[in-house]
Amino acid sequence: MILPIYLYGQPVLRETAKDITPDYPELKELIANMFETMAESDGVGLAAPQVGLPIRVVVIDLDVLSEDMPEYKGFRKAYINPHIIEKEGDSCSMEEGCLSLPGIHEPVRRAKVIRVQYMDENFEKHDECVQGYLARVMQHEFDHLDGKMFIDHLSPLRKQMIKRKLMNIVEGKISCSYKVKPFRKNK
Ligand code: NI
Repeated sequence: MILPIYLYGQPVLRETAKDITPDYPELKELIANMFETMAESDGVGLAAPQVGLPIRVVVIDLDVLSEDMPEYKGFRKAYINPHIIEKEGDSCSMEEGCLSLPGIHEPVRRAKVIRVQYMDENFEKHDECVQGYLARVMQHEFDHLDGKMFIDHLSPLRKQMIKRKLMNIVEGKISCSYKVKPFRKNK
């Protein structure tokens, strides 16, 4: 089932998401729906708060990029209760976008290497050092679980320059190829 994507301005995107336990109701269905929703909107990552749920669940699909990045062939994973334990000092900048911020693309500086702890769909624990594009996507997605969005990393000047676009998203004055849930409905 395709779920509507909550847009910038929706309070759930600013909440700190909670860890879940294996008895969380219909988790398998939720994860399947998140994968379906992400594919429908051409995203590479989707965090539960973006579908209105303040819980620590993220899906990432880098297989869609595997033509350019063959190392990610078949890479489709769900992350339960992920936490970034460490960020290495070295960082780099790259343009990012977000399904909750349609029409906004800005360069964001992020750590090149991170250490993450999470559980997979079967609640098996993992502890990994991650680098490259996946490290960037993880930092973007896991930020969502701490109520953060990529625009929070921009300079005050850049933020000023996209202010009007942000207001339009809050007001629902946008056209999107996927199903969305803006804070205010544009009538
Ligand atoms: Ni995002």
